[in-house]
Amino acid sequence: MKYSVYLSVFATAVLLNACSSAPPSESVGLFKPSTSIQDIMLHIIDPNIDYVWNSVATISTAKGTEERRPQTDEEWQQLKQHALVVLEASNLLLIEGRSVAQQPASTSSGGAELTAAEIQKAIAANRSDYIQRAHALHKATESVIAAIDHKNVEQLVETGGAVDQACEQCHSQFWYPNDKRPK
Ligand code: HEC
Repeated sequence: MKYSVYLSVFATAVLLNACSSAPPSESVGLFKPSTSIQDIMLHIIDPNIDYVWNSVATISTAKGTEERRPQTDEEWQQLKQHALVVLEASNLLLIEGRSVAQQPASTSSGGAELTAAEIQKAIAANRSDYIQRAHALHKATESVIAAIDHKNVEQLVETGGAVDQACEQCHSQFWYPNDKRPK
């Protein structure tokens, strides 16, 4: 009887100790998130994933049809460089203390899109969803990189589509949740 009381006091002490020694978040103060989420979207994620998406295309002109595909080892390597930027950018989205947009940039073109302050609030209130969305982007981009490593065009198109869905799922929750247009 007495033994179990000691045991539980001991267990509680260990727990309290574990809590007090763990900082609320390791990333606070460690990273310097001076770039906004908007800048990461516009200048890091978007151009790099576009490079991947545009690497496979059918282009019809008056001169005929071009089937664009990554062909040489060098082209596959360049593709990988761009995919790796997107992969790691998914981690950047999770650094705490990052602003949604620099003032006075707008995140809304009117209509269904939220303002930066509204997005900030939504992310704070649903942080675990937001983390899950960023992880989904990470996972989908990993599958793109696997396709690149296998030099598999079909797999590249398929996994590129999965990335597109990962973008859309975060946007429809945190950027334009009020958009009622059919998807
Ligand atoms: C974890 C959440 C999340 C994921 C995943 C995500 N985004 Fe975003 N994105 C946002 C938020 C929040 C905004 C709205 C704030 C803003 O305007 O930047 C946004 C806005 C944008 C914008 C508009 C920027 C502007 O204001 O003009 C572009 C372009 C964009 N994202 C591209 C992408 C692409 C491409 C992907 C996938 C490869 C992606 N995003 C994945 C959260 C995400």
